[in-house]
Amino acid sequence: MRWKTSTICSGNSHSIPIKHLPIKEREVFKEVAASLEEQAFTEAWGQKAKALFSDALMDTFVNPDLKKLISKINVLGPANLPTAERERYNTILSQMDSIYSKAQVCPPAEKCWSLEPELTDIMATSRSYKKLLYAWEGWHNASGVPLRSLYPQFVELSNSASKMDGFKDTGDYWRSWYDSPTFEQDLETLFKQLEPLYQNLHAFVRRKLYDYYGSKYINLKGPIPAHLLGNMWSQTWNNIYNMMVPFPDKPSIDVTHTMVDKGYNATHMFRVSEEFFTSLGLIEMPPEFWDKSMLEKPTDGRDVVCHASAWDFYNRKDFRIKQCTTVTMEQLFTVHHEMGHIEYYLQYKDQPVSYRGGANPGFHEAVGDVLSLSVSTPKHLHTIGLLDQVTDDAESDINYLLKMALEKIAFLPFGYLIDQWRWGVFSGQTPPERYNAEWWYLR
Ligand SMILES: *[C@@H]1O[C@H](CO)[C@@H](O)[C@H](O)[C@H]1NC(C)=O
Ligand SMILES: *[C@@H]1O[C@H](CO)[C@@H](O)[C@H](O)[C@H]1NC(C)=O
Ligand SMILES: [Zn+2]
Repeated sequence: MRWKTSTICSGNSHSIPIKHLPIKEREVFKEVAASLEEQAFTEAWGQKAKALFSDALMDTFVNPDLKKLISKINVLGPANLPTAERERYNTILSQMDSIYSKAQVCPPAEKCWSLEPELTDIMATSRSYKKLLYAWEGWHNASGVPLRSLYPQFVELSNSASKMDGFKDTGDYWRSWYDSPTFEQDLETLFKQLEPLYQNLHAFVRRKLYDYYGSKYINLKGPIPAHLLGNMWSQTWNNIYNMMVPFPDKPSIDVTHTMVDKGYNATHMFRVSEEFFTSLGLIEMPPEFWDKSMLEKPTDGRDVVCHASAWDFYNRKDFRIKQCTTVTMEQLFTVHHEMGHIEYYLQYKDQPVSYRGGANPGFHEAVGDVLSLSVSTPKHLHTIGLLDQVTDDAESDINYLLKMALEKIAFLPFGYLIDQWRWGVFSGQTPPERYNAEWWYLR
């Protein structure tokens, strides 16, 4: 398989005037310049705070609120790094972003497949072992291989910035957001409680896949091949629900077809989501949101990072979502997830800047998902006209619960392993030559 190498200029490119750079490089330049500007700001105010409030003085503070505000300003992150390293850090991040967003798989005599929409669609809908493998392997080669040499450089620079803030490494810093001295044990304990259910789900899915793909591909006592679970990272398995349905005679609870039949589009999906938020008494999206968000993949040939994200512009007015929305039930939930971030931003927009963040990143991810849980119930889907009939019996319940399990229970060990892997990488316990091995060990 071939892969594309990065076309980005490196390090000192920003001494070249913007307009002379080819379009792609101009984007990287703008991104790096914006990061540098933000870091200069963080550095200036952080230094000021450090000069005014020594550690000794901070120890005398009795107001915990004030103490927290100032200690937040004191964390400089990458703004700790000297200029040359700071530039390298930003450039590496930008290069990694670009590699990831541009990675394509190019099958012979066909248009190349991007992650969104082609590869994501293939992973979700193809049931051909070979095509799925081709897509999976092709994308991992295209994105993973060129990233491989950059990641350790990012780790090194990031760690050195975190150490200057008094943390052991960047993993230690990230864990500090949770304000719990037992965070790692807490997660392990929770995972152990979940594990029996996860293993049952895994065994059930493996048997169904065995029935379909056969013993040539599925070992009934082994792991499941990663490309057969309906998602590029096998992080959620709901896309193969139609192969798993315990009671297939019951009415389908996937409303994708109904959404398409009813002429849903991206804007429509965001309005449906907003209506749910406001029906609970939560804040509506401001006009800037509707004017400036990118709710669909641009058709003008621009390369965009399609991975859905939500943005706070910190001016109390401007909040946006960037999402290459397609009309599916899964994306309808992603819309709620992203809008949950915006809702959280809106709720704390009048706080001091240091407090304009989630209580921890987990809370931020959870807001929209909590709502999605209610949105996805057959009863609610019926209410908003996406489901004709609600069948209230044990078999339909089991169908629904299995679908939820494929999405939520399958995800939890995945989310946990991502953090475990990164903690190992940042702490140095997993050196670069063990990156891949450690990933698959945890997986
Ligand atoms: C504690 O500090 C915060 C932030 O400066 C301030 O708003 C609050 O009034 C202070 N509380 C007391 C009891 O002084
Ligand atoms: C999307 O759907 C909404 C509501 O159904 C409609 O008003 C709007 O014109 C549609 N937009 C496009 C671009 O089709
Ligand atoms: Zn999120």
